[in-house]
Amino acid sequence: MSWVSDYQYKWYETIALNIVRAGGYIPRHIAFVMDGNRRYAKSHHLRKIDGHSHGFEKLANCLRWCLDLGIKEVTTFAFSIENYKRSAEEVNGLLDLAREKFGKILLEERKLEEHGVRIRVIGNIELLPEDLQTLISKVMIQTGNNDKLFLNIAFSYTSRDEMTQSVETVLKLGDNLEIDDISERLIEECLYTRHSPPPDLLFRTSGESRISDFMMWQLSTTVLYFTNILWPQITLWNFLCGIFAYQRVCVRLEPFKKHKRLEHAQHARECNYYSERVQRFVQKLDSFRKDLLLSLSSRNYVAS
Ligand code: FPP
Ligand code: MG
Repeated sequence: MSWVSDYQYKWYETIALNIVRAGGYIPRHIAFVMDGNRRYAKSHHLRKIDGHSHGFEKLANCLRWCLDLGIKEVTTFAFSIENYKRSAEEVNGLLDLAREKFGKILLEERKLEEHGVRIRVIGNIELLPEDLQTLISKVMIQTGNNDKLFLNIAFSYTSRDEMTQSVETVLKLGDNLEIDDISERLIEECLYTRHSPPPDLLFRTSGESRISDFMMWQLSTTVLYFTNILWPQITLWNFLCGIFAYQRVCVRLEPFKKHKRLEHAQHARECNYYSERVQRFVQKLDSFRKDLLLSLSSRNYVAS
């Protein structure tokens, strides 16, 4: 199964998709918490890892639907730092699944290019096995010029860790900064999602209405949508219900015109962002991250 599925729409599904698209207010950025894989596995007498594999197939369907709806960016929670506490068998199974799926991208270069999908892995990748760090950095470099759909995979990620890393980055690289340069905008620049707008819609499955340490900074004005379906059972209808819920919120906010998220973005941009010191810091951060990626990718591991 590839990263973007060849989902075959039934005629009535195509109509439904077109109706939702015609409704306007398509989210630019959608975030998924793919929850319920193990409950699905249990109820189908499968191994836990098979539940996660089914989950990956549904992610590929969702990416197809997002592309066809014109959604530009997707962020998905694939592996939390908290997940390292699960059994060694499950953790190793998930890491192997990642090796298989990321390895496939390197072999199927053309396919993601065709769909224009750029992959960015967000998270503390230094916690991952070294071969996976190398594989992930190769994938990010290889897909780096694609620009139709940005797919951010939160892997070895929690939001609190992301914020902690941001503060560490300021201390590590910001030796020319002054106290007045510390602003929301500066912290945002240090997050893994530095190049992304905040998600417009968060979609979580399995009946859990929690954020679970996912993108807590970025979700401050995001529309939250929770559904009882387990992730491996998600259908186009469930997905469209989430989009429809988002559209209803947008219609309700229409009379107020200025969406809160836009106000927030505006405000953050006004915060001392353009000081020369901050600009130099941001350039330094960009080249630090680029060099790190290049050095990780040039290590000598072979994709399995
Ligand atoms: C949450 O369900 C899901 C995960 C911890 C893993 C999600 C991973 C995938 C769908 C595969 C993605 C792989 C790549 C390489 C992107 P859960 O395990 O918490 O299930 P439960 O809530 O029923 O216990
Ligand atoms: Mg869960």
